[in-house]
Amino acid sequence: MKKIVYLLLLVMTFSFSSSVKADEGMWIPMLIGKNYEQMKKQGFKLTAKDLYNANASSMKDAIVHFGGFCTGEIVSDKGLIFTNHHCGYDAIASNSTAQNNILDNGFYAKNYGEEKPVEGLFVRFLLKMEDVTEQVNAATKGLTGAAKEAKLNEVFAAISKTASTGPNIEANVKDFFKANQFILCVYERFDDIRLVGAPPQNIGKFGGDTDNWEWPRQTGDFSVFRVYAGKGNVSAKYNVNNTPYKPKKFLPVSIKGVKKGDFSIVYGYPGRTDRYLTSYGVDLATEKVNPTIVKLRDIRLKSWKEDMNKSVDTRLKLSSKYASIANYWKYFIGQTEQLKRLKVAESKRNEEKAFREWAAEKTEFAGLMDQYEEIYKTLEPIAVQRTYINEGFLASAWVPNAITMGNALISKDQKRTDAAYVQQVEERINKGLSTYATTYTEAADKRTFAKILAEFYNDVPVKSHPKFYTAIVEKYWTGNPETTFQKYTDYLWENSNFIRPEKLKAFLASNPSAKAIENDPGYQYAANVNPTTYVKNNFGTIVSDFETRKAELDHLYLKATLEKNKGKLIYPDANSTMRISYGNVQDYSPKDGITYNVTTTIDGVMQKYIPGDSEFDLPASLIENYNKRNFGQYGNDGTLTVNFITNNDITGGNSGSPVINGKGELIGLAFDGNWEAMSGDIAFDKKFKRNISVDIRYVLWCIDVLGGAKNIINELDIRK
Ligand code: ARG
Repeated sequence: MKKIVYLLLLVMTFSFSSSVKADEGMWIPMLIGKNYEQMKKQGFKLTAKDLYNANASSMKDAIVHFGGFCTGEIVSDKGLIFTNHHCGYDAIASNSTAQNNILDNGFYAKNYGEEKPVEGLFVRFLLKMEDVTEQVNAATKGLTGAAKEAKLNEVFAAISKTASTGPNIEANVKDFFKANQFILCVYERFDDIRLVGAPPQNIGKFGGDTDNWEWPRQTGDFSVFRVYAGKGNVSAKYNVNNTPYKPKKFLPVSIKGVKKGDFSIVYGYPGRTDRYLTSYGVDLATEKVNPTIVKLRDIRLKSWKEDMNKSVDTRLKLSSKYASIANYWKYFIGQTEQLKRLKVAESKRNEEKAFREWAAEKTEFAGLMDQYEEIYKTLEPIAVQRTYINEGFLASAWVPNAITMGNALISKDQKRTDAAYVQQVEERINKGLSTYATTYTEAADKRTFAKILAEFYNDVPVKSHPKFYTAIVEKYWTGNPETTFQKYTDYLWENSNFIRPEKLKAFLASNPSAKAIENDPGYQYAANVNPTTYVKNNFGTIVSDFETRKAELDHLYLKATLEKNKGKLIYPDANSTMRISYGNVQDYSPKDGITYNVTTTIDGVMQKYIPGDSEFDLPASLIENYNKRNFGQYGNDGTLTVNFITNNDITGGNSGSPVINGKGELIGLAFDGNWEAMSGDIAFDKKFKRNISVDIRYVLWCIDVLGGAKNIINELDIRK
């Protein structure tokens, strides 16, 4: 009996990987040949080499890592890029003013001259991937702990250096399967990226935070950019004389439309998944970390919103920051809810029980789960406080700014005689000052700052309060934490040079000494909450010990998993390297008795329309053309498809990724996941997990019919 149970559990443990069909999995492009037969069965019509080929142009050459945080695709022979509206959001918002408000009104350049340069934005093309596992393992053989860590960094640097063969060639070695495999990725980077177009925000972000992470959805989440190159089509810094980049490959666009069952590929840069997280990690997330993140973000968001509602200028100033904090605020609410609903910790515990039994007789793996249990016990008591560092103590923008600027100023003072160094620091500081000043909002920042410090008083037992915090409490105590920290906040605002931008500017101009910085009360606070200092002063080696040991355990856990699955297809966690996921257009049932369609339409957009609402208002041009049923060549069955769902496996970072049909044509842009599968980064649930995309026909309708930007449409290779 025992044996049968044991075998059964063992099968359960590893079945997720051995029975992988399509949908689940973010596959390494270089190795996609292994999935080819499966892909063909599901509807793929091209070859594996069409997807990835390091020696000739292939589809990978049309995919870009957009700014390092999103994905984009090249759609014309003049370097035109499609990505999501929320990926271009910061570029759009920072190019907006109350007078020329392109965030609210939308914008399409009518010619190259009208395209808007975006400082700091870059894209990277993947040139090749190369497995360097043997080389790395040979170099680190016999080493453990810190020595191994140091050696790893050294080999990574050496391999990358050899591979970086030019000024714009970036190479890095990434670890896969928790350092059981190492792959070198070589990229070509372009820094002159210009904004070409975007719909009005009430199309691009239609539904706002209410609809975010949810299906059914009707959002036109797209924006348009262009890569520019210098002479000879090579990467160059921004220059008016640069010309549109001529790509090795661009994607044709299909306006034939999607239907249930159609094959789909999502090709892009998923950022991070944690599919091998243990039940101990899941419990820590649901019980401690996630609720703290949500609570602290809630404070910030409410505070910002209050000011954003008061003036257009403030709204434009804070929109982009607000959107990114709100996005993951809702993410963590959903993740916690779904981890619980889908009983993810419970099913992990079952897998771990089977693993314990399987590993019991294997010297290398025995006791692994006990050790996980043990290390999580050390982290649990400090988890809430630790979450406060980044999500709370550093939540007001002046704090991280005071850390970097203060430290730079101190080192500048210490190296006063080194003219080149001084100049370099000054340049950095001036740049930092203007970035800081553009989003400074006094009322919101003050409220947030005081409220978070007061919340900490109740969330963390007094005996665990850090010294600097206790000193503030003692000095400013009024009888309750709220007014105490209000008093402290008022004091800082009046007495620190690091908070009000005008004061900071004057302070910088006075060429302050290291001593003056160290005496500044704002800098003192910032130095105390500097994550490195904070962790060391308050948790000793708990965090670093946990991290080192967890990395070792993860490595072994994955080694065991790979051993068990030898010869089978298994995919590594996302790590911001290029991946292919394949699947089909597929509906789902969120609840008993309900099935959600695979598509939504413009009729649904109109059903949600609330005039004057901040999330559900619509531009007049959309309503007008809707009323005339003017869908141009993009409509079907008397309506216009807006969004659709597929079962492709995606995560953050995939935003903007092309959704490609079996013939290699662009049919949509992936932009979100659905509520019922918010636990997906930790556990993929086939029944619920869907990828939400904007239909390319809606994108083109917005550009062409609403935007009148024929110049953009004419660049595309449209297949009817
Ligand atoms: N949840 C989407 C993602 O992380 C972002 C959607 C942006 N829209 C919004 N309402 N914030 O990819």
